[in-house]
Amino acid sequence: MKKKIVIGLLGTILDSGTSRKRWEKWRPTVSIGQFDDFLVDRFEILHTRDSNRLAHCVRDDLAFVSPESELNLHTVDFNDPWDFEEVYGRLYDFAKAYPFDPENEEYYLHITTGTHVAQICLFLLSESRIVPGSLIQTSPQSRNRTGEAGTYRIIDLDLSQYSKIHERFNRQTRDDVDFLKSGIATRNKRFNEMIEEIEHVALRSNSPLLLLGPTGAGKSQLANRIHALKKTHNTVDGSFVEVNCATLRGDQAMAMIFGHTKGAFTGAVNAREGLMKRADQGILFLDEIGELDLDVQAMLLRALETGHFLPVGSDQESTSHFQLIAGTNQDLSKRVQEGLFRHDLLARINLWTFLLPGLAERPEDIEPNINFEMEQFEQNHGQQVRFARDAQKRFLSFSTSNEALWSGNFRDLNACVTRMATLSSGGVIDSATVEAEIQRLHKTWIELGSPPKPSVAKKHIVDEDMWLSLDLFDQIQLRQVLKVCKESRSLSDAGRKLFEKSRLQKQSSNDSDRLRKYLAKFDITWKDIEAVRSA
Ligand SMILES: Nc1ncnc2c1ncn2[C@@H]1O[C@H](COP(=O)(O)OP(=O)(O)OP(=O)(O)O)[C@@H](O)[C@H]1O
Ligand SMILES: [Mg+2]
Repeated sequence: MKKKIVIGLLGTILDSGTSRKRWEKWRPTVSIGQFDDFLVDRFEILHTRDSNRLAHCVRDDLAFVSPESELNLHTVDFNDPWDFEEVYGRLYDFAKAYPFDPENEEYYLHITTGTHVAQICLFLLSESRIVPGSLIQTSPQSRNRTGEAGTYRIIDLDLSQYSKIHERFNRQTRDDVDFLKSGIATRNKRFNEMIEEIEHVALRSNSPLLLLGPTGAGKSQLANRIHALKKTHNTVDGSFVEVNCATLRGDQAMAMIFGHTKGAFTGAVNAREGLMKRADQGILFLDEIGELDLDVQAMLLRALETGHFLPVGSDQESTSHFQLIAGTNQDLSKRVQEGLFRHDLLARINLWTFLLPGLAERPEDIEPNINFEMEQFEQNHGQQVRFARDAQKRFLSFSTSNEALWSGNFRDLNACVTRMATLSSGGVIDSATVEAEIQRLHKTWIELGSPPKPSVAKKHIVDEDMWLSLDLFDQIQLRQVLKVCKESRSLSDAGRKLFEKSRLQKQSSNDSDRLRKYLAKFDITWKDIEAVRSA
């Protein structure tokens, strides 16, 4: 038989009373010592310093009604017993320090006493198994039978009767994940796990999210759905405000995002509040964030960190508390290396980063996505469509093969299903339609070539493979050399700065030549450096 241990807070009202009359009233903590069918081996009674006298009285009364029990008092001081954070923190600390021995002892958290806040905290500690025990709830027998022990109920959150509550939570989570996936029963393990994680993070955090992935992989749609999901859970109040940073340039970007005053620049006839303000209490989705100018990035970072920013032309700060979702198809660390993206901003937004795979990387999801696109077509056009059996087999085998590049991802899939459905005769997509579509897709992918490389690719001095093949020693040295080169007017200017000491000691005659040879080891020419600078 395991020992029974009851842990509870002294109830300053329900357990109160130090006069003789106290025996006439129901006192929850004392009542636990009076049940014949629930013999407690040890009581751990938590009380504040103020109620020291009452605690000793309750302990003596328990010793009287339950002489076999060991009785321990613990002082826990809450400055404010209604402050959730504080109460949870104190109880958590107590639990963490307590020498639980579940192999030999059973624990019961008494939840009848203490403030509601304390009761909820005890529930949480049990539910999270930080306290490996059940809850015990006591109640008086009836109003006119005072002085009796009353009744008790044990609530074990681990028991199957409570699995219904868990099941309800799980069902809600499943619905939310389905919602993020647009109701498509995707099969790719990695994708499904990622969406589950996004659901989890989206509902618990207002920190920035960074969505990476190729064009058409669904970044914008996912950002939109995250907002809608948060709305249904009341974890966001404001609107979803979206902007594609690639369409913003220079001052216009500043004004669009941060707003401007009347007359801030030529053409600013009226003041405008800007997208950041519009996203107050909501979500600001900055698509193609890598395209933002450095000065906009600096202001964005400040707004993220402080909630303050300065509209163009204004000397008064504006505020906005928004969640940032950033989308990009670019490698932001490379942009940082090239001095085109702020390192501190990347560090700030690189907390929850999700890489959405392209469709070709999820072959097992192509079929459910085709079905989804067919249903969408039916809904939008009010016309039923289906594949003839052979045609479906052929199309599936092509679309999941290496030949199918799906370089535009969902955009390609959507266009191709729309074309086949439109060309179907009597709502049936036959083999001829499928063959023609396969030819058309091949042609598109050949004409477009591989997906256009992000514009930044041209701006790299050293490509990633080359960089990764270098020793750390060379990486560090080369990074510094390139930094000096980028800041220099010419090869000889850079050479002069880099070999200043040895030139003074007359150890090297030609700085430019020495630098040129060093760069050549990494296949870099001065032209490459100039190209990056002018990009
Ligand atoms: N999970 C999905 N299932 C089916 N269709 C989707 C899915 N996600 C997005 N789409 C559709 O694919 C198209 C492209 O999606 P979206 O604009 O979200 O891609 P993106 O990654 O933001 O692309 P870009 O990098 O070009 O901005 C949209 O028409 C969208 O409705
Ligand atoms: Mg997008």
